[in-house]
Amino acid sequence: MELSGGLNKITLIDGILHRPGQPWSAQIQSLLAHLADQGFEGSPRPLGFDRGGHEMVSYLPGTTLDAQTHQHFQTDKVLISAALLLRRLHDAGADYEALPKSPWQGLPTGSNHRRDEHVICHNDFAPYNCVLNNGIIDGVFDFDTASPGPARWDVAYAVFRFCPLSPPSNPSSFGSLEEQRRRLRLFCDEYDTPCDEELLDLVVERLSALISHMHDQAAHGDEAFAGHIEAGHDKYYEDAISYIQINRRYFTHPD
Ligand SMILES: Nc1ncnc2c1ncn2[C@@H]1O[C@H](COP(=O)(O)OP(=O)(O)O)[C@@H](O)[C@H]1O
Ligand SMILES: [Mg+2]
Repeated sequence: MELSGGLNKITLIDGILHRPGQPWSAQIQSLLAHLADQGFEGSPRPLGFDRGGHEMVSYLPGTTLDAQTHQHFQTDKVLISAALLLRRLHDAGADYEALPKSPWQGLPTGSNHRRDEHVICHNDFAPYNCVLNNGIIDGVFDFDTASPGPARWDVAYAVFRFCPLSPPSNPSSFGSLEEQRRRLRLFCDEYDTPCDEELLDLVVERLSALISHMHDQAAHGDEAFAGHIEAGHDKYYEDAISYIQINRRYFTHPD
């Protein structure tokens, strides 16, 4: 069976996922092994490479996000479990010693990126890369863009996606402004990080980096990113940036 989240063509054979081998696959396999060694159960198990050079990982059972299930991903229980899972992921990966000769793909980072507090960021921690079981998020996959980085860089993207911090015009937005603010605080409390303007600045920086990355990749012939631009995804991120900037104080100041 073939699965796709929009970027990768992934095949499920006898319960094992085969992903296209990439220059960073060895690093990701090593990271996944470290997370498993730490007792972290929320990520796929690394299963090496097949004869065609595809990276193999275990399939995480559970509900994934699609048009039919998106409402299941909007509860407070889901939000809380996502924050706790991200925290456990960061704690489990904090002392990972990267394979020195293997690259990370990572994602381009913003210019003001603080260099302290490094963990291994997932870099795409969002409902569409998580699995739901019994009403809680207990697994995350798609580690392709993982790389060392500040924990709050990952929190920033996660709150953007889960609270979510996007205007009603965005098809994946839900909840009133007040509701989004409440959920933002809840996520930060559960993760145990300040809900402050600096975090929202990181969200803006993260989304700006994503827009640039999409355009760069499309300009270099990447068809998936060209398709995203064609579908107006860059515009959605631009609108979200304005929305966050307009509501920066409201989101982060108790009234
Ligand atoms: N380890 C996994 N466990 C369960 N489902 C997975 C796993 N990896 C991928 N999938 C499924 O395959 C789809 C595409 O995989 P993903 O790694 O997210 O690729 P993309 O880079 O295209 O987003 C996911 O949306 C999910 O439904
Ligand atoms: Mg994905």
